[in-house]
Amino acid sequence: MNTKIWLSSPHMGTSEFKNVKEAFDTNWIAPLGPHVDGFERDLADFLGEGVHVAALSSGTAALHLALIMLGVQAGDEVICQSMTFSASANPIAYQGAIPVFVDSEDRTWNMSPDLLETAIEDRISKGKKPKAIIVVHLYGMPAEMDRIMAIADRYAIPVVEDAAEALGSSFKGQKLGTFGAMSILSFNGNKIITTSGGGALVSNSEAFIKQARFLATQARDAAPHYQHSHIGYNYRMSNVCAAIGRGQMEVLPDRVQQRRFNYSFYQEQLAATPAIQFAGEPNSDYYSNRWLSTILVNDSQGVSREDIRLALEKENIESRPLWKPMHLQPIFADAPFYGDGTSERLFDQGLCLPSGSNMTDEERARVITCIKACFSL
Ligand SMILES: Cc1ncc(COP(=O)(O)O)c(C=O)c1O
Repeated sequence: MNTKIWLSSPHMGTSEFKNVKEAFDTNWIAPLGPHVDGFERDLADFLGEGVHVAALSSGTAALHLALIMLGVQAGDEVICQSMTFSASANPIAYQGAIPVFVDSEDRTWNMSPDLLETAIEDRISKGKKPKAIIVVHLYGMPAEMDRIMAIADRYAIPVVEDAAEALGSSFKGQKLGTFGAMSILSFNGNKIITTSGGGALVSNSEAFIKQARFLATQARDAAPHYQHSHIGYNYRMSNVCAAIGRGQMEVLPDRVQQRRFNYSFYQEQLAATPAIQFAGEPNSDYYSNRWLSTILVNDSQGVSREDIRLALEKENIESRPLWKPMHLQPIFADAPFYGDGTSERLFDQGLCLPSGSNMTDEERARVITCIKACFSL
């Protein structure tokens, strides 16, 4: 059997292990410590001036805290991109609030600004102004942030950017994760950099980040005994995980280049296959970290997305259909949805190809050979 090629596996640099050993040597084995502070600084420095960061146990936890701090409560409505991973929407449900899903646009596969505006106006006309907008940069591709922010500002609704998949991407030269009132990052094992599991909340508001750190450490009031005036959470990042994260930050620019190389390679190799389309950056305003390389497969050459996925699986190569939109998920069947069929078509035709920054030339060649064989090339 061929060795397995993963969709997106962890890729350590040279400092991670040394940093973890140092955490052990100094006995900072806790959800606080010098690497947590250092990782927050590294992220803030990377993202740009005036940015504040709280390192947390996951991206999902970060999104949950963002909604809590925006005052989202039971019965409130929160707009969310439908084409995403469930973790973008679950924290809305944690708060007992109602997700209102909005479809994607063709260009970026992210939230359609036109449908966002339609959704906002319709919800307002029904007497419920949405409390927040969760926009996602799927697979690293920037959403159309200028139009989305302009609409959100016009209706005075805060934006939470889900940049879980998009660290290292930018829009009009500005790093993703710095547009929203708050933004979240994920360092899960499959992300462009990983802390094994982890996430971060990002904001230009230091007050939000201080409050996030407070809520993430059980909301302990200043007192010698345990005293609480708020419901707290155990959402802080461990110093051991942050030690890994600090090493990963050293190689983040390399990881972006390596993933972008995967994408260009696949695109070049499959350029002569008309049934396969790539999601190009719409113009030079958009810079994607190409976290995952994705393709759309139409039936014009008699080969379907599933044919390719199954052929890859036979060769011990992991691939995955594009994320199934939230409005099609059984758990969210009753949620309002504003759409035009775009994300359904993407889900039907789309496939994520192996995209790890640690892929070898031989592994990339195996993927291409297998896909070309589906087309008898
Ligand atoms: C778009 C998106 N949002 C949120 C998350 C949640 O991040 P985490 O796994 O760190 O909780 C993920 C990844 O898992 C994701 O892909």
